[in-house]
Amino acid sequence: MTKIKQNSPVLFFYNNSKKWLMNISKKESFHTHIGVIKHSDAIGKEYGSRLMTNKDKYVYLLEPTMYDYIMKIQHGTQIVYPKDLGYIAARAGIKDGQKILEIGTGSGSLTSFVASIVKPRGHVYTFDVDDKFMKIAEKNIRRSGLSKYVTQHNLDLKTSKEIPVTEMDVALIDLGDPWIVIPKVRQMLKGSGAIFAICPTMNQLEKLTMALVENEFTDIESTEHIIRTIEAREGKTRHSFQGIGHTTYLCFARKAFFGKTKAKTTTKAKTTTKAKTTTKAKTTTKAKTTTKAKTTRKKTKN
Ligand SMILES: C[S@@+](CC[C@H](N)C(=O)[O-])C[C@H]1O[C@@H](n2cnc3c(N)ncnc32)[C@H](O)[C@@H]1O
Repeated sequence: MTKIKQNSPVLFFYNNSKKWLMNISKKESFHTHIGVIKHSDAIGKEYGSRLMTNKDKYVYLLEPTMYDYIMKIQHGTQIVYPKDLGYIAARAGIKDGQKILEIGTGSGSLTSFVASIVKPRGHVYTFDVDDKFMKIAEKNIRRSGLSKYVTQHNLDLKTSKEIPVTEMDVALIDLGDPWIVIPKVRQMLKGSGAIFAICPTMNQLEKLTMALVENEFTDIESTEHIIRTIEAREGKTRHSFQGIGHTTYLCFARKAFFGKTKAKTTTKAKTTTKAKTTTKAKTTTKAKTTTKAKTTRKKTKN
């Protein structure tokens, strides 16, 4: 049984739209439309217990999850939402012990989520160019207790010649023009390492896909994740009126070796054979890209 004590994180839950995430501080209390809630009343109670306000309303004392931290994050930028976070983790196979590269820390939503998975043995190396956002992210990451597993760098990987990290298991990119950093990201990823780019528009997906093919990535996939909340009540269950509209598309791929580099170092005879193969590979890839682009256009029409 986990009991709440001084400094314990607690989600004071009234309903889905009225909930407060705080660390317990003996002398603190807060005023809400359902009455005053005193932190000291929560001390010694088991997580899950309820507490009565001075207006005779109940709030539940829940143990915060990553979902709660992310939904309560301070926004400096757009963030990646739980509906996308889960798929990113599953598709890229993110797990304890991995080394993650992130370009575009933003508010630190994605950073905190992946840090919570790769800990305690793994680490997130995250890069941003904006001090203001980096400070907000630092605060958000600290709030969810994950600072130990994250290193923040102020470095522009679009222009820098530095390769600050190598042999990364996964690379996550969330900036306006992700295709520019693809050659650099390739150098920082291990073979077969996964890449995920957050692309709010289809134009970005197209440009990115071309860059991925050009830079020898395979298993390329673009997706959109839509979540619909259901209000389930006896006799009148229906879709909720509320919900998040369009947020972003996701583009996934894995680093491969198409054999292009090898062709340059082989003997003349071999080079000829190889060159043929490369041309073939290029044609196939091109065909695939065209099909993908067509599919995308079709989707837009619908
Ligand atoms: C949309 S936000 C990222 C949000 C983040 N994924 C989250 O979940 O909170 C994009 C971030 O990319 C950063 N950025 C823009 N250009 C950059 C660059 N060249 N290198 C690194 N970060 C960059 C911006 O400063 C901004 O913080």
